[in-house]
Amino acid sequence: MFGRGAELMIDDYIEFTKKVKQKLGIDLQLYKETQMKRRLTTLRNKRGFPSFIIYFDALCNDEMLLKEFTDRLTINVSEFYRNPRRWDVLKDRILPMLLQNNGRLSIWSAACSTGEEPYSLALMIKEHFPAAAVQILATDIDELVLSKAQQGVYTEQALKELPNPLRKKYFTKTGSLYKIDDALKKDITFKKHNLLADRYPVHVDLIVCRNVLIYFTDKAKEAIYQNFSNALKTNGVLFVGSTEQIFNPNQFALNLADTFFYQKQ
Ligand SMILES: C[S@@+](CC[C@H](N)C(=O)[O-])C[C@H]1O[C@@H](n2cnc3c(N)ncnc32)[C@H](O)[C@@H]1O
Repeated sequence: MFGRGAELMIDDYIEFTKKVKQKLGIDLQLYKETQMKRRLTTLRNKRGFPSFIIYFDALCNDEMLLKEFTDRLTINVSEFYRNPRRWDVLKDRILPMLLQNNGRLSIWSAACSTGEEPYSLALMIKEHFPAAAVQILATDIDELVLSKAQQGVYTEQALKELPNPLRKKYFTKTGSLYKIDDALKKDITFKKHNLLADRYPVHVDLIVCRNVLIYFTDKAKEAIYQNFSNALKTNGVLFVGSTEQIFNPNQFALNLADTFFYQKQ
């Protein structure tokens, strides 16, 4: 049904994914192929390379091209209190439950992008649970977004769900940009981590991993759910994105605690 040309194109992409894995340690085959291939083909064509193999050779010899490529691999859009109703559930139900027996919390914001998520956590805890001692690990595969996260400077768009009094209290506005209060940084450690390859932390009370699992294949997602379950303490909670419900959480020793929240059995 498909001609030789189509076969060659498929091989070209598969060959490319193998080389990228060797060079960068990123396994593109664990990301949904149609989406990823479409994004990368657009980029490759924009730069005028007729095949992925030729594009790969160019990536090896041109730092700027390589940076552009790694930027495109990762979709970094984020915002404070993304899907605010879910953050209300976190504040009103989940955090009080986690803090019931212990005033300390170990939190992991996995795939944290430019930092809006871990800062939302730090801000919510400071505002509503000031006595709690928290440690927030904030990780992402992309070093560039992590350095932006450490700077903590945001546009109006990233703050659109954040109530005005909180903007005033926790940000300094310079021109059109908002800089986060340094006091919110002290409980957060930013670190590079690949969800598909690196070791996971342990003894975590709350894992927040939102809007990244949608890019992965079912096989990759299942491995991640199992790793998250292993990383959580008993009764710890996993908070996922608003299109990322887990269909059979029990197989990972997780129970539904609320919509998009799963508790370790
Ligand atoms: C759309 S952002 C989500 C940011 C935030 N969690 C939120 O919901 O607003 C997706 C993030 O996943 C990161 N990412 C993609 N693949 C990853 C991987 N294999 N391991 C860790 N992070 C990854 C990207 O770099 C990007 O910053």
